[in-house]
Amino acid sequence: MGRAGFVAGNWKMHGSLARNQELLEAVVSGTRSLQNVSCAVCVPYPYIVQAQSVLEGSHVAWGGQNVSQYHHGAYTGEVSADMLTDLGCRYVIVGHSERRILFGEENRVVAEKFRAAQECSITPILCVGETLAQRESGEAEQVIATQLDAVIDLAGIETLRHSVIAYEPVWAIGTGKTATPQQAQDVHEFIRSRIAVHNSRIAGDIQILYGGSVKADNARELFAMPDIDGGLIGGASLVAEEFISICLAAQN
Ligand code: 13P
Repeated sequence: MGRAGFVAGNWKMHGSLARNQELLEAVVSGTRSLQNVSCAVCVPYPYIVQAQSVLEGSHVAWGGQNVSQYHHGAYTGEVSADMLTDLGCRYVIVGHSERRILFGEENRVVAEKFRAAQECSITPILCVGETLAQRESGEAEQVIATQLDAVIDLAGIETLRHSVIAYEPVWAIGTGKTATPQQAQDVHEFIRSRIAVHNSRIAGDIQILYGGSVKADNARELFAMPDIDGGLIGGASLVAEEFISICLAAQN
């Protein structure tokens, strides 16, 4: 009964071979006894091989933070979903607000990336979320609906069966300003209802994570909300004890 928990770390552009080794080994040993919650780390491209070599055979999955919308070809600097599959990635983050805002990724491109991941059997973690200005002007739901609809329209509702959604309000990312459990719950519920218009079964099954300044000391109250199934963790995923505590908080 109910959805299993899921916690994914988004390391962003942090790490080094030496530091990662320590962090990965600590995460594997600290999460060994987890029940009914899965965990993953999404690492920078150059470290995927390292993540694979440390995590293979463990219960911690690994993935990328971005993916090309193309499968192969003359696309200098890009990395395809096929390549991520080759390196055993189970997940990839698509449409993170840092990609949308700093690198100009629009809804259409995010949807194409989502589809490319799906075509390679990688589970996309689709990020959606509003800026502070959008929330203050009452546009949050409309923005999120548009972000979701772009994916549903391009890839089809059935593809959501094998995907994860992360609600990450832009104003809560890296700011130390977490959405209250109720604020997050309201949006998660909205996302589920939006999906239910197409398919209520998928809406009930899909894992929806919250992301934005999740820490060991606020994770439990966020994850206690009925529509919050876990978290996408930035800064706190770089500190082993923090990340492990957050994974433990997602057990239900
Ligand atoms: P922080 O946890 O550092 O706020 O980052 C959240 C995030 O962007 C995860 O993708």
